[in-house]
Amino acid sequence: MTRSILFVCLGNICRSPTAEAVFRGLANGRDLEIDSAGTSGWHDGHPSDPRASAEAARRGIDMSSIRSRKVEGEDFSRFDLIVAMDEQNLRDLRAVQPPGSAAKLVKLLDYAPGLGISNVPDPYYEDNFPEVLDMIETACARLLGSLA
Ligand code: 4NP
Repeated sequence: MTRSILFVCLGNICRSPTAEAVFRGLANGRDLEIDSAGTSGWHDGHPSDPRASAEAARRGIDMSSIRSRKVEGEDFSRFDLIVAMDEQNLRDLRAVQPPGSAAKLVKLLDYAPGLGISNVPDPYYEDNFPEVLDMIETACARLLGSLA
């Protein structure tokens, strides 16, 4: 059974904190541990990108308490499921995954094949936050459904 989920992207200021906040809202009332982290550590301790928080706030989702942190070895034993935003995140995670650790690694858009895209595009550069939020909302709902 999946009891804990970690969402992971590169910077942990755009995609994965958005997924964390969206999923927390959807999972409201369920006994799940939900967190997010970045593979880079470049923004350690920083709040999410204001463009991400603003788009989330427009949809009634609060990201204000989230702070960026880097993925650590312990995450692979603490979380049952680690959900990467793109293929590069997945490769970076596999490179630091302690041997024999139990966490299952997946990509978020594996849960939404109907979208016809397999990686969540990086809005930090592309500045397409509404589109990215749409994808994250769709895939998070499907992910939650898959746990039922
Ligand atoms: P994220 O986006 O991985 O979705 O948080 C990025 C945030 C920051 C950078 C790259 C991607 N950066 O180069 O600082």
